[in-house]
Amino acid sequence: MEKYIINGGKELYGSIEVQTAKNSVLPILAATVLTDDKVRVLNVPNITDVKNMVKILSRLGCKAVFDGNDLMIDSSTADCHEIPSELAHELRSSVFLLGSVISRFRMAKIAYPGGCDIGLRPVDLHLTGLKRLGVEITEENGYIVCKCDTLKGNEIMLDCPSVGATENIMLAAVKAEGVTVIKNAAREPEIEDLQRLLNCMGAKVRGAGSSSVVIEGVKTLKGCDFHPIPDRIEAGTFLVAAAMCGGEVELKRVCAENISSLLHKLRENGCKIRVNNDKIVLENHRRLTSVKSIETQPYPGFPTDLQAQITALCCICRGQSIITENLFETRFKYVPELRKMGADITVINRNAFVRGVERFRGATVVAHDLRGGAALVSAALAAEGKSEILDISHVDRGYGSLEYKLRKLGGDIVRVSV
Ligand code: UD1
Repeated sequence: MEKYIINGGKELYGSIEVQTAKNSVLPILAATVLTDDKVRVLNVPNITDVKNMVKILSRLGCKAVFDGNDLMIDSSTADCHEIPSELAHELRSSVFLLGSVISRFRMAKIAYPGGCDIGLRPVDLHLTGLKRLGVEITEENGYIVCKCDTLKGNEIMLDCPSVGATENIMLAAVKAEGVTVIKNAAREPEIEDLQRLLNCMGAKVRGAGSSSVVIEGVKTLKGCDFHPIPDRIEAGTFLVAAAMCGGEVELKRVCAENISSLLHKLRENGCKIRVNNDKIVLENHRRLTSVKSIETQPYPGFPTDLQAQITALCCICRGQSIITENLFETRFKYVPELRKMGADITVINRNAFVRGVERFRGATVVAHDLRGGAALVSAALAAEGKSEILDISHVDRGYGSLEYKLRKLGGDIVRVSV
């Protein structure tokens, strides 16, 4: 087990490069199973979720080799359609493999997925979508078992715009017979990125980024080199940390349009933000003013993956805020931890009522999930005195070299084994 020790109260200054998007890379790695050619994914982030996905691909028989930060996947040797529970439990995105594994082997057996404990996270929409393509699905002792003779394109209407279900259905449909149309599809930038990859591999997919994705099945897919988009959530996390600590931080290799909902709120708070092509500079030298309300929504609304971080910021702003979490029921687990640091927050159902305090005080707190953990790190950097963040393995799932990047900006943070 490892922890962070953070001496807070220092302003952040300097420039860092944003990592490649975790939520793009994971479904892209799942897509590599669809071809016998090699796929090279460039500039892959050094995070546990990627390492676990690589373990799963290896288990399926694929060869995965790192060349610096690039990852080469050769799926020509894939010979297994089963993902056992010890692997699937480490990573929720293992469920994204259902679509590509069923496409490749006409069968798949995957243990129910794990990932962040942030609510029920059902997979019913994934399964309903696959059934519409002709997959027979049964459940046996904690495993989802899928079989089909042929995959046939169909129209699929999602009850809600699930990111994972949209991606999984795209992966299953890309080599199906005929045309698949996903209606009420999620519109996240990572879905557009998956479309971009699939089309580089020779697929015929259009409409990603809108609520209707159209996939014309093709017979085979080929390999390619692919550079996924930058991580809008990592970028957002650094911007919020800079807003909380004060200073002037430049992010390089970032797409401002993909985080416009956050930039809008930060400007409303009083931050100065300059955007120049793929760079964003945030400058702040004073206590910010609360925004009245923030609600998480599917893209292009405010992302649930930045909810914890923006709530932490509201805690030290002047005034009161209400933050509403509309996607995942238990995404306020970090709140008792922020209270240990002096935050004044009351959670009632989906709403967090925040009354701003002057500043956080250093404390020992526990990271219970990925984004909540990132919020605690930012709070500790902004706090007066020393903090310890325990159980940082959750943070390592999604942030590569977090402490190096923060130290580069002047943060006093070290990783210690316990
Ligand atoms: C993805 C992201 C995650 C982000 C989330 C929402 C990845 C690897 N993860 O997760 O970081 O927080 O999008 O932006 O890309 N739902 C159902 N049935 C289903 C599937 C989902 O009811 O079969 C519901 C969920 O409970 C949730 C909502 O749909 O309320 C959105 O979830 P979804 O978009 O599927 O999230 P993930 O794909 O799991």
